[in-house]
Amino acid sequence: MLKEKEGLVGRLIIESIEGRVLMGIVMFVGVMVLVGWVAINEPARMAAFERQHLGRSIERGAELFAANCSTCHGATGLGIAERAPALNNPQLFGHSFLNPLNADIGRRERQVQELNTQMSELNRERDALFAEAATNPGPERLRAITERIQAIDVLMGTDDPNSLPNRIAALEAELEPMIAEREVLLDSLQAATDKGYLPGLEAARAQGGLALTQYLERDSNRLLQAGWGGDLRSFLTTTLVHGRPGSQDAWGGTQMVAWAQRGGGPLRDDQVADIVNYILNWDKGNAWTTEDLFAVNQFTKLKADASMVASGPAAQAIGRDVDAALVAVTALTGDPVRGKAIYNGEARTEVRARLACASCHMGGVQAPATEVTWTNTLNIRLADPVNAGRSPEYYIIASILHPNDYIVAPYASGIMPQTYPDQLSAQDLADIIAYLRSYAEGGQS
Ligand code: HEC
Ligand code: HEC
Repeated sequence: MLKEKEGLVGRLIIESIEGRVLMGIVMFVGVMVLVGWVAINEPARMAAFERQHLGRSIERGAELFAANCSTCHGATGLGIAERAPALNNPQLFGHSFLNPLNADIGRRERQVQELNTQMSELNRERDALFAEAATNPGPERLRAITERIQAIDVLMGTDDPNSLPNRIAALEAELEPMIAEREVLLDSLQAATDKGYLPGLEAARAQGGLALTQYLERDSNRLLQAGWGGDLRSFLTTTLVHGRPGSQDAWGGTQMVAWAQRGGGPLRDDQVADIVNYILNWDKGNAWTTEDLFAVNQFTKLKADASMVASGPAAQAIGRDVDAALVAVTALTGDPVRGKAIYNGEARTEVRARLACASCHMGGVQAPATEVTWTNTLNIRLADPVNAGRSPEYYIIASILHPNDYIVAPYASGIMPQTYPDQLSAQDLADIIAYLRSYAEGGQS
C-alpha cells in the first residue's frame, strides 16, 4: 500500500531540481504562447463580432424603415414624387459623377499652363541673349550665347519629340476627348434638372467653364447643398431626432416629424441608430451609376437661396469698352466687402455669374497675387511707358475686360478668362476695384 503510494507520488513529483526548473520553463513558455495566440486573434474576433453586431442592427433598421418610413420615402428608399425625397440616392452620399473627370482635366490644364509659362521665360531669355550678342561680348561668351540659343531653339521647336510645343500639343490631344466626355455626361445629367437634382444646371451652363463645375459639385452633394458641416451619419441622426419643422409647407402637407423619443417621437435612440445604419448601408461608394441617379423618384426641394436663385431682371453687363466702363465705374461707390465676395466666388455678380478670381490669383503662382495688385499697379504697371497717363482704375478695368492686351511677366497670355465683359456690371467692377484697393489702405490683412 505504502509502496504503491510512493510510486504514484514519485511519478507526479519530479525528483531532481533541474527537472523541476525545466518543467517550470516549459509551462511558462506554454502559457505565454497561449496568451499571445489569443491576443493576436483578438482584433479579428472583435471585427467579426462587430460585423455581426452591425449586420443585426441593419436588419432591425430595415424592419423599422419598412414600418415607419416607407410610406413616404418608398419601400427601397427611392422617394415618392411630391411626398418625400429619396435617401437611397447617390446625391445623399455625395457621389459626384463629374469630379474624377474634372480632376483629370484640371491636372492637364495646369500642366499646359506651366509649359506655357516656361515658353515665355525661354523667349525672354533668348531675346536677352540676342541683345547681349549684339554688344560684342568677345568670342568665348559669343560661343556660349550661340550654344544656349541653339538649345533654346530645340526646346521651342517641333523637331524634338520632348520639346515644349510638342508636349503642349500632346496634352491638348489628351484633353480633347476628356472635355467631350464631360459634355456628354453633362447632357445626360441635364435630364436630372427636371427632377430637381441640379435645379439651375441650365443657367450654370450658360455661364460656362469653371463656374459650372464648381456649381455642380455643390449641388451633386446633398451635405454641401444643405451646408452641413458634419458627416452623413450625424446629418441623418439629427434629422431623425429633430425632424424638419415646417417641411409640410413645401411638401403638400406631408411632414418629416421628430422620430426620436427625446424629440417627442416614438423611437428609442438605439432604434434611431439601427435605421441610420440601414440607410448608410445603401452607399455604393464609387460604384454608383447614372442609372441609380435616374431611379430616384424625388430629390429634396431646395429652399430659395438668394445667391443662387435669380430675383428680378439681371443687370446690364459692362461690355468691352474700357473708356465707357471707367466713366460708369467712377460715378459709383465701390463696396469692398461685396467685391471680395464676388472675387472669391461666394456671391454672384449682378449679371448672375459666379466667378472665382481668387482660384487663380491666390498665392501668386498661377496669376499675380491679389494682395499686391493695387500697389503693383501704382508702382510698377503705371511706370511702364505703355501705360503712361493711365489711372489705376483704368489699368485694372482694362486688365479684367481685355486681359491679353497687357501681359504681366512672368505669367502667360490667354489664361485669364475673356468672358468678364459679359459677366460683370459697372457696380460689380466698382466693388472689385474697391476690394483690391482695400489691401493698399490696410483694410485687409
Ligand atoms: C409622413 C411622411 C414621412 C415619413 C413617414 C418619414 N419622412 Fe422623412 N421626410 C419627409 C419629408 C417631407 C422630408 C423632406 C423634409 C424637408 O423638406 O426638409 C423628409 C426628409 C427626411 C430626411 C432628410 C433628407 C434630406 O436629404 O434632407 C431624412 C434623412 C429622412 N426624412 C428620414 C426618414 C426616416 C428614417 C423615416 C422613418 C423613421 C422618415 N423619414 C419618415 C417625410 C416623411
Ligand atoms: C484662370 C485664371 C484667372 C482667373 C480666373 C482670373 N485671372 Fe486675373 N490674371 C490671370 C493671369 C495669368 C494674369 C497675368 C497675365 C495677364 O496680365 O493677363 C492675370 C492678371 C490680372 C490683373 C493684372 C494684375 C497685375 O498685377 O497687373 C488683374 C487686375 C486681374 N487679373 C484681375 C482679375 C479679376 C478681377 C478676376 C475675376 C473677375 C480674375 N482676374 C480672374 C489669371 C486669372
